[in-house]
Amino acid sequence: MKNIEIHSLAACCNSWGIGVNGSLPWRLRKEMAWFTKASTGSPPRGKKNAVVMGRKNWDSIPKSFKPMINRYNIVMSRTLLLNTPEADAVVRSFEDLIQLLSCEQWQNTIHESPYCGKVYLTRVMADFKCDTCFPKLDETFKLLPTDQFDNVPQGVHEENGIKWKVEVYQKHKPS
Ligand SMILES: NC(=O)c1ccc[n+]([C@@H]2O[C@H](COP(=O)([O-])OP(=O)(O)OC[C@H]3O[C@@H](n4cnc5c(N)ncnc54)[C@H](OP(=O)(O)O)[C@@H]3O)[C@@H](O)[C@H]2O)c1
Repeated sequence: MKNIEIHSLAACCNSWGIGVNGSLPWRLRKEMAWFTKASTGSPPRGKKNAVVMGRKNWDSIPKSFKPMINRYNIVMSRTLLLNTPEADAVVRSFEDLIQLLSCEQWQNTIHESPYCGKVYLTRVMADFKCDTCFPKLDETFKLLPTDQFDNVPQGVHEENGIKWKVEVYQKHKPS
């Protein structure tokens, strides 16, 4: 089976919170634009990136934004119908996801991102009440210099009085 590299893209606040009551704790238009740009990428003609998300995340996307355009929308769920409208695929487990992405039809149409196995983490530099958290990255994740990535927003940005910056981590693979 061909190696499949999956990249994480998230925004978390000071306490690693990412969500509250089924939606985002903040409204940061430019940060959302970064998510769209990063998840869409610039694949060659005929290919698209696949965005894999949990069912609650899928539910939280307003109907008018579904499916997220120019990307394959893949939802992980044990409850959603397999032929859910707007979703390109629903998978029941991580193993199903890998199997799906490995099959020839998807291999031919999914763009492999130049970003390999990285975590693109927006640090929202503020405190928010959250009920969902991103797993804390342990010391096996190394922070990379952001300036080596042309497409990543550089430095600290500010919207609605809230500062945010993008960090890129790579898991250290034992040799
Ligand atoms: N700040 C950010 O970057 C960011 C990004 C995304 C989401 N969010 C926020 O995070 C919250 C949602 O996150 P969440 O962690 O609560 O939920 P989630 O991961 O979006 O969805 C959880 C659901 O996904 C399905 N699922 C998860 N693992 C699975 C597996 N291994 N196999 C099959 N199905 C699986 C299950 O669906 P079923 O119950 O249908 O089986 C599970 O109930 C919302 O508040 C959202 O706005 C924030």
